[in-house]
Amino acid sequence: MRILVTGGLGFIGSHLIRRLLREPQVAVENVDVLTYAGNLANVQDLESDPRYTWHRVSVTDAEALDKILSAHAFDAVMHLAAESHVDRSIASGLPFVETNVLGTQTLLEVSRRHGVRRVVHVSTDEVYGTLGAEGLFVEDSPIQPNSPYSASKAGSDLLALAAYQTYGQDVVVTRCSNNYGPYQFPEKLIPLWITNGLEQKPWPIYGDGLNVRDWIYVEDHVEGLWLALNRGRAGHVYNFGSRNERTNRQVAEDLLKILQLPPETVVQVPDRLGHDRRYAIDPSKAEQELGFQAQVGWDEGLERTVNWYQEHRDWWEAVKSGAYLDYYRRQYQHLEAHRK
Ligand code: NAD
Ligand code: DAU
Repeated sequence: MRILVTGGLGFIGSHLIRRLLREPQVAVENVDVLTYAGNLANVQDLESDPRYTWHRVSVTDAEALDKILSAHAFDAVMHLAAESHVDRSIASGLPFVETNVLGTQTLLEVSRRHGVRRVVHVSTDEVYGTLGAEGLFVEDSPIQPNSPYSASKAGSDLLALAAYQTYGQDVVVTRCSNNYGPYQFPEKLIPLWITNGLEQKPWPIYGDGLNVRDWIYVEDHVEGLWLALNRGRAGHVYNFGSRNERTNRQVAEDLLKILQLPPETVVQVPDRLGHDRRYAIDPSKAEQELGFQAQVGWDEGLERTVNWYQEHRDWWEAVKSGAYLDYYRRQYQHLEAHRK
């Protein structure tokens, strides 16, 4: 089974590739253009596997994608490449529209041209917008995104569903809640706080800190993606989550305890513009139809995550200092020279 994964040098994509390669019959080609969020160190352990190949190609580049898909028949495309950070999208939405909207449409069209059997489009619970104190997002909740990031993801999600309706293209869309775990870029809440804690730096908390997120351990999400690929119904949407709602203040309390830091570590800063108040996922459809079941509880997941950042100081220090970009230059400069 040959699978093309996009965004495989990022946080979730690298976990997904590791999961896919546990299946002996699977070969993976990773299309990732290596933006600031991509990191070759995330897949260093996979690089020697003959079933793994990386292409430094953007999902907006139809010609380059055509070449990759002409070389082999692919059973599936699993599309994760995206600009993914809400705060960056508030600074400028343009790269978000380019990669998330234009890139997704490009990938859908190329996949269709080459007869790819199935496309799994990895969307997000943020397309539903925000909840009040009650209720859960279900698959047919209204699409009401509030940030440039989530609006661009909603655009790509709807384009994927439109490809199914218009052409009968086999597309499955997944919408997952907030992930956490190893290899997450330390601009996102949990790795930012853990690494700041390890450096004796403060933890910025936006506004009153009572916004709620529904946290899932990343390995549970990628297991769900594998199930969606194999058992999902074409044209269907599946929500993934682990019924684990926490306010940001609760996340802070739990992390302070593990890291044995004082409450003064947490410092209130101005709120994010248009900050969504609450996300909460109902994963019943994925549980019933796909057999999805989140396995890693919050205490265990947080403990594992903190341990990983404690044991991989070299990884996150290189990311925070920008030195991680040198890894590419060292390992791949011969390729660059060859291209010139
Ligand atoms: P990430 O930012 O860690 O990784 C994104 C990857 O995509 C990077 O490796 C980057 O180099 C690559 N990329 C960006 N633009 C590209 C382009 N034009 N062409 C090719 N590659 C490109 O993101 P993540 O947190 O791993 O999220 C992966 C996907 O999952 C995204 O689609 C995101 O919307 C979705 N998602 C994330 C979460 C979460 O909590 N992180 C939850 C639900 C869904
Ligand atoms: O819900 C899924 C989404 O989760 C994904 O689609 C996104 O790609 C991913 O980035 C994430 O979005 P959030 O905006 O929820 O995640 P973030 O880690 O940026 O913030 C989590 C919460 O913490 C949110 O309420 C904002 C708050 N926050 C964040 C940062 C970075 C702070 O209070 N302080 C911070 O420094």
